Amino acid sequence: MLDQIADVGRDPRRGGYSRHGYDKPELELRHWFVEQAVERGLDVETDRNGNLWAWWGERGDNALVTGSHLDSVPGGGAFDGPLGVTSSLQAVDLLQAKGFQPQRPFAITVFAEEEGGRFGVACLGSRLLTGAIDARKALNLKDPDGVTLAESMKAAGYDPDLVGRDERALRRIGQFVELHVEQGRGLTVPVGVASSILAHGRWRFTFSGEGNHAGATLVEDRRDPMLPASHLVLAARRAARGGGRATVGRIVPNPGGTNVIASTVDVWLDARDSDDARTRAMVAEISEAARRAAEEEGCELRITEESYGDTVHFDAALRDDIAGALGGVPALPTGAGHDAGILAAHVPTAMLFVRNPTGVSHAPEEFAEQADVDEGVQALAATIEHLGS
Ligand code: GLV
Ligand code: MN
Ligand code: MN
Repeated sequence: MLDQIADVGRDPRRGGYSRHGYDKPELELRHWFVEQAVERGLDVETDRNGNLWAWWGERGDNALVTGSHLDSVPGGGAFDGPLGVTSSLQAVDLLQAKGFQPQRPFAITVFAEEEGGRFGVACLGSRLLTGAIDARKALNLKDPDGVTLAESMKAAGYDPDLVGRDERALRRIGQFVELHVEQGRGLTVPVGVASSILAHGRWRFTFSGEGNHAGATLVEDRRDPMLPASHLVLAARRAARGGGRATVGRIVPNPGGTNVIASTVDVWLDARDSDDARTRAMVAEISEAARRAAEEEGCELRITEESYGDTVHFDAALRDDIAGALGGVPALPTGAGHDAGILAAHVPTAMLFVRNPTGVSHAPEEFAEQADVDEGVQALAATIEHLGS
């Protein structure tokens, strides 16, 4: 099934895929998903926050829900997100072929803008659904071209006035299970279950200096925001100790000319660690280094927390129940964020992981062997049968 969407959203410049919330490729994938769901007799609706739901049988509360997302990071791989969606559809195929009928409401979901690749906030669809982000704040988020979430939703035919915490949708999720490609090399067998997700946040550092001429301005006369921005990158590496992870993957100088001293530089920091205190301490250390470097260069610094989520411990009973039903598969932690992690604060949530032989993810080299993918589909079907009977 991944072959069916292999040409959608290819990014010739970065390699891999760039599919972001409500852009052309992501809308094409939504359309494809609806067609696939309808072909299987599923009944599709979109909730108030742009998440898709495909119901097998009656809609209702306390449903067993599975699914993932179809958007990607810029230049991402083929599996992060889509594998959970295609596996859900294929699990339904297996179950329908053997005449299984869920004994409780059952739905496949596709969450909107999970990666935050367009509007900057990860897990936007599930955060909005659960009220983890303020609706007005979310609707005003802008993509790199200045288009707001509200504008992009409207252009795609969704009503932004409906966006916000959705009690009805939340009530409908009795248990959520997300299948996902593993994103490290932690899994040495085809399938495992998740135990926890690191505490994780994103911060934007805006350094302001003085735009000027690269040739005519003596270095001692400069207020160059690229200097403290560079210090921030190095401070992030220094501060990430003992299992902490701090990454600068995006820097935008304005105006961004080779012969121009930038007037401002935006730097995005992604920071993760085992708990809240450790993550906050790491970000405080990096922020302090950035402040000092900004002062030395005569620049101003504004720091904005764009998103944050504390450590997620998946529901132990559900995790053990699923692992047992699958014959005792291993449980492993992950450093990657997921909609399942957002939902875990509200409903029992679990994840199935499919082995990733290289451990590469968020890059075109992301990969899973066909045999492992097939085992993942079998495991998801068995999980649905186990929980849905
Ligand atoms: C999403 O995959 C994230 O961990 O950033
Ligand atoms: Mn991802
Ligand atoms: Mn994902």
